[in-house]
Amino acid sequence: MGDDAGITPTLPRCLLVFLAAVAVAAASAEENGGAGWHVSPSPSPSPSVVSSSRARTSKHHPCLENPPNMTENTGGEAGEVVHDYGGLEAYVTGSRRFHLAVILVSDYYGFRAPKLRKIADKVALRGYCVVVPDLLFGDPYTDDPARPFEEWIKTHSPVEAAEKTKPLIAAMKKDGMSSIGIGGYCWGGKVATEISKTKETKVAVISHPALVVVEDMNEVKIPIEILGGELDTLSPPKLAHQFEDALDKNKRVDHFVKIFPKAPHGFACRYNTSDPFAVRTADEARVDMVKWFDKYLKL
Ligand SMILES: *[C@@H]1O[C@H](CO)[C@@H](O)[C@H](O)[C@H]1NC(C)=O
Ligand SMILES: *[C@@H]1O[C@H](CO)[C@@H](O)[C@H](O)[C@H]1NC(C)=O
Repeated sequence: MGDDAGITPTLPRCLLVFLAAVAVAAASAEENGGAGWHVSPSPSPSPSVVSSSRARTSKHHPCLENPPNMTENTGGEAGEVVHDYGGLEAYVTGSRRFHLAVILVSDYYGFRAPKLRKIADKVALRGYCVVVPDLLFGDPYTDDPARPFEEWIKTHSPVEAAEKTKPLIAAMKKDGMSSIGIGGYCWGGKVATEISKTKETKVAVISHPALVVVEDMNEVKIPIEILGGELDTLSPPKLAHQFEDALDKNKRVDHFVKIFPKAPHGFACRYNTSDPFAVRTADEARVDMVKWFDKYLKL
């Protein structure tokens, strides 16, 4: 159905850097103020291998690799920006008269990222009203060296963002959207995980999550899908399988964990448009996400 129409090849801004290991003594997102790293499951972390042409310390963080091109031409946007939807600014695409809806929560780069909005448009074509809220409140992470990531993240808690999502969900329900799912990428994966501990939405999908810890899975109350990348150093396959084990024990919820071969952190929403394999992998992640939503929302 011409699903890939509108993807324009662009020059990526930086080389993808695969880190040998990311090991920072951070017990959990809450305890460390959300520094963005997990405790490495490996007892002896290997040194980071950094070969970026842009030598900035923040580039050591896998979440900040291959940042979105904010002026990328993805062939236009089907939706519109709504200035107050449950107190949030949001990109809304698809009819607000649908009873089926999906909330997509961005990574650190925020709700303006053209590729994210394109994903939202494509999900909307499957019969959903898709809402991409600005849970970073006009203050997404930028590569501004004057404001290192470690400082920025302190004022952008995904747990608080999940609280701010609740009035949006209420507003959507008031608009007649009775079946709502939530998807999140990276930082948004933690937001979606927090929401999945409630019954605010019916289903959740998290793609290459950041800040999510194994214990989170014990509290999940709705069907959850986890899409991980084989080369993700932040939420590596090993961690994804620990999530799966915890979900197996959490008898309350259906769950599905999939690891995409050769996929780095960020693969579902910050892929390299010039790399056909990366484009196909991101497409597959989106299709898998929609199938999971369909399964629980189109009953
Ligand atoms: C993107 O893909 C193209 C084609 O495979 C490759 O030449 C380029 O180096 C890639 N860019 C990044 C940032 O990986
Ligand atoms: C970003 O996208 C714009 C518009 O397509 C393009 O002109 C520009 O070269 C891109 N920048 C990078 C760094 O890829």
